[in-house]
Amino acid sequence: MRRLFIKTYGCQMNVYDSARMAEVLAPLGYAVAAAAEDADLVILNTCHIREHAAEKVFSELGRLRKLKLRRGGDMVIAVAGCVAQAEGQEIMARAPHVDIVLGPQTYHRLPEMVARASRAGGRVLDTEFPAEPKFDYLPSPTAHGPAAFLSVQEGCDKFCTFCVVPYTRGGEYSRPAGAILDEAAALIGQGVRELTLLGQNVNAYHGRGADGAVWGLGRLIRELADRFDGLQAIRYTTSHPGDVDDELIAAHREVPRLMPFLHLPVQSGSDRILAAMNRRHTADDYRRLVDRLRAARPDLALSSDFILGFPGETDRDYQATLALIDDIGFAQAYSFKYSPRPGTPAAGMEGQVPEQVKEERLAGLQRLVAGQAMAFNRACVGRRFPVLLDRPGRHPGQLLGRSPYMQSVFVDAPAELLGSMQVLRVTRANANSLAAVLDGGAS
Ligand code: 5AD
Ligand code: SF4
Repeated sequence: MRRLFIKTYGCQMNVYDSARMAEVLAPLGYAVAAAAEDADLVILNTCHIREHAAEKVFSELGRLRKLKLRRGGDMVIAVAGCVAQAEGQEIMARAPHVDIVLGPQTYHRLPEMVARASRAGGRVLDTEFPAEPKFDYLPSPTAHGPAAFLSVQEGCDKFCTFCVVPYTRGGEYSRPAGAILDEAAALIGQGVRELTLLGQNVNAYHGRGADGAVWGLGRLIRELADRFDGLQAIRYTTSHPGDVDDELIAAHREVPRLMPFLHLPVQSGSDRILAAMNRRHTADDYRRLVDRLRAARPDLALSSDFILGFPGETDRDYQATLALIDDIGFAQAYSFKYSPRPGTPAAGMEGQVPEQVKEERLAGLQRLVAGQAMAFNRACVGRRFPVLLDRPGRHPGQLLGRSPYMQSVFVDAPAELLGSMQVLRVTRANANSLAAVLDGGAS
């Protein structure tokens, strides 16, 4: 028996990829270890989106180097994910104790990479975008609890000027619908009740359907709901406003098990900045789109990403972003100071905004969004809704789940309810969560 430790950074796609890597390696006798200290094979599954991402990986690699020395060199170290894709050569050159560097598209080849690396001196760099999609080579998935992720799409063709994703994850690729339905069936057969469909730009999904036609995300969601009675909640993330089509809006209207929450990043409320970001939509396009979505599903809760201090952003642009937030009313949002990514067009743009201005704008925006989130949470007090209790809470006797609107909800409940869907009544709103009581039995 050998031991494997995977440290995952970044987005949910990486969480999904890490689970799949563990599954690919299981037939070689690798069981998951709790810490790098106990592992024969350590994989860092990296994320390139945040600032200094590569430096963080190198400092983690410094720590692993000491562990490897302590074990007399008897440890295979692999770097996977988006930093590996972007900085593969650099990692090979700067970190000789790293045995394997692999990109997000080649982890189905991990068994042979590990075999090569286990032979003396056999270092491997594989950051190809292979013609054969990795999904065709992955084993059937193992469920780890009642909620699961399912990657349906990867990569992005949008080329927003601040973003590294089109370079690290490559061009847009949609999995055939049949493979997705098979994976869903396997997960649901193991007790999964909630699926989150994943993709860098998930609503660009356009996979070959079982009937030979091209299915969009709306159709895929509808088919999942139709085929699987055991599937009680469907979510998807992350979306681009330009790829929300009529079929997807109709799914929000007509598929009750599609949860009323949508993470739909807008990034800015200024048309000038949106154009410089190459977002391909205006602030009013976004307002109109949200109107249409809310007409279809009036209780739809919205979330977004915002970038503050994009090159050339003036105070007026910033005010336009605040005005958009005022108009929409978000249930939650993520916000980031712009930081240049080498190789992206915005990194070389004129008008880089001073750090202090970015910080002030970020703080102002976060105050506004926190107020909206608190108001949204308060409006939920007294409401009843079904919640899949998928995790133990922080305190003994507590279980945790997600509301239909994606808020964390905690409830005092016996441990045997873990994994079940229960109707809860919300009793208290916090800044980032709801407190609830059991109210009405299983749903
Ligand atoms: N600087 C700041 N934020 C960024 N994001 C992506 N690239 C950058 C960058 N260079 C943010 C965007 C995106 C989220 C995942 O990360 O808001 O939607
Ligand atoms: Fe990056 Fe999203 Fe823009 Fe694609 S749509 S380039 S993933 S921010």
